[in-house]
Order: sequence, then C-alpha cells, then structure tokens
Amino acid sequence: MSDMDRRVHAHPILDDLREPDTYIWYHDTKIPAVTGEPVAAALMASGIRVMRHTVKTGQPRGIFCGIGRCNDCKMVVDGVPNVRTCVTPVREGMRVETQQGLGAWRDEA
Ligand code: FES
Repeated sequence: MSDMDRRVHAHPILDDLREPDTYIWYHDTKIPAVTGEPVAAALMASGIRVMRHTVKTGQPRGIFCGIGRCNDCKMVVDGVPNVRTCVTPVREGMRVETQQGLGAWRDEA
C-alpha cells in the first residue's frame, strides 16, 4: 500500500488531498509528508501506528483522541520528549522517534 492510499483523497469540508511536498525522519527512515499536517498523520499514512511504549508495562500506544488531550501519541521530536504528535505540524527534516516510557532528552548536536 502506498503512502497516498492511506490518506483521505477527497473530503467534503477539508477539500482535496495535497500531495506530499516535504519529508520527516522516523528513526532512520525518510517519510513523505505534507507541510503543516500533524506529524502523526504523516506517520500513519506511512503505516506507522506505534508512537510510544508505556512506562510500567511497555505496551504500545498510538493515536487515540487526535486532538491533543490523551497523550497517547507522545514521541521524541528533534530530541525533545513528550511531544504530542497529533497536534504538532510537520516541518521539513524533523526527526521523530518512538518514545520509551517517560522519554529522554536527546542531544541533537
Ligand atoms: S492522540 Fe491524544 S494527545 Fe495525541
């Protein structure tokens, strides 16, 4: 399944789908994205469903509310942990990693 097949192509309110015009990095994988769309949307369009693993049991978590309230989509973005990817817009070349537990700051030097 291609990146474009997982997206809504024609929406009655949001208009037609824009083609990916940029990219982000998911670990070492380059992911196509549309500038300004939520990071989580770009990841899901590429088949990535797990955003973090829980603190106590390490269970996988992904998009739940999609509006910035539940924290299930928290990831490490450009070295910063606990970023809610469902409300964080894509910027070209940003680096996104699956968060383990409480997350840790990464040196992006
Ligand atoms: S999916 Fe609930 S805060 Fe992002």
